[in-house]
Amino acid sequence: MTYAEADLIATIEQLAGAELSTLPQAQLDAIDQYHAGGTDAVDCLIPHLALTAGMTALDVGSGLGGPARQIARSTGCNVVGVDVTPAYVDAARVLTDVAGLTDRIELFCSDIATFEPTGFDAAYCIHVQMNIADKKAFFAGIARRLRPEARLVIFEVCKRDGSTEPELLLPWSLDGTDSHLVTADELRDTILSSGFASLEWVDESDWARQWFEDFGRRLAGANTPAALPALLVEGPTRMLNFAVAVATGAVTIHRGVFVRAPSG
Ligand SMILES: C[S@@+](CC[C@H](N)C(=O)[O-])C[C@H]1O[C@@H](n2cnc3c(N)ncnc32)[C@H](O)[C@@H]1O
Repeated sequence: MTYAEADLIATIEQLAGAELSTLPQAQLDAIDQYHAGGTDAVDCLIPHLALTAGMTALDVGSGLGGPARQIARSTGCNVVGVDVTPAYVDAARVLTDVAGLTDRIELFCSDIATFEPTGFDAAYCIHVQMNIADKKAFFAGIARRLRPEARLVIFEVCKRDGSTEPELLLPWSLDGTDSHLVTADELRDTILSSGFASLEWVDESDWARQWFEDFGRRLAGANTPAALPALLVEGPTRMLNFAVAVATGAVTIHRGVFVRAPSG
């Protein structure tokens, strides 16, 4: 099982040597964003979600909830996060409580495939679909949960056409059995055939490569021994392999903005 970490809050407090409630936002930002690009990537996604106060966004694969809290703070919207890993949902709930955002962020432990609520004003998916074998069912399910003309914004990892699989271990897979990478063209085509029209499709790999090059400097700036790589099983190796895969071009990172087709 890839997402095998337990008792994350205890681990964070132990590594940080302080209670969660005392950690500054800069440290939390290095802890709870489980994807390349950190808070900078989420900042790039926010305008494309077209969210305003009072709207509700669906966070598919919400992880530790860093993106959900950032988006709720930045837009004034509500967020419903869904994640299949119980320990992550537990940690995300505590982090959300400490952030004072429990009135606007609800976190559910569920496979997105069996999550029923519908009518969301937007959805986003950050570094999740690599774990999904049946991507058509996954994106059609997201379309079903959105109101017509709602936005779907993705920030996702793809394999480069003709390239070999990236070296394990990876942030999203320890043994490869739950890694289901497809090319960017395949991913985009799948989303388009699942009830969405495309507004934007951007290869952000160069930007992500630069972000990884600056990773050490960023970690030093965050000044916390509890940064994400320290929390994950084999975390440093997984992050390093991800950085290498981005640097060599074995994987690409794409940002996509879609709108739910009226009849989708
Ligand atoms: C690499 S993490 C990204 C977390 C978060 N999106 C972020 O960027 O901080 C991938 C997350 O997707 C979740 N996940 C994978 N498959 C899922 C599924 N079928 N339903 C819900 N969550 C899923 C995992 O539990 C994990 O928390």
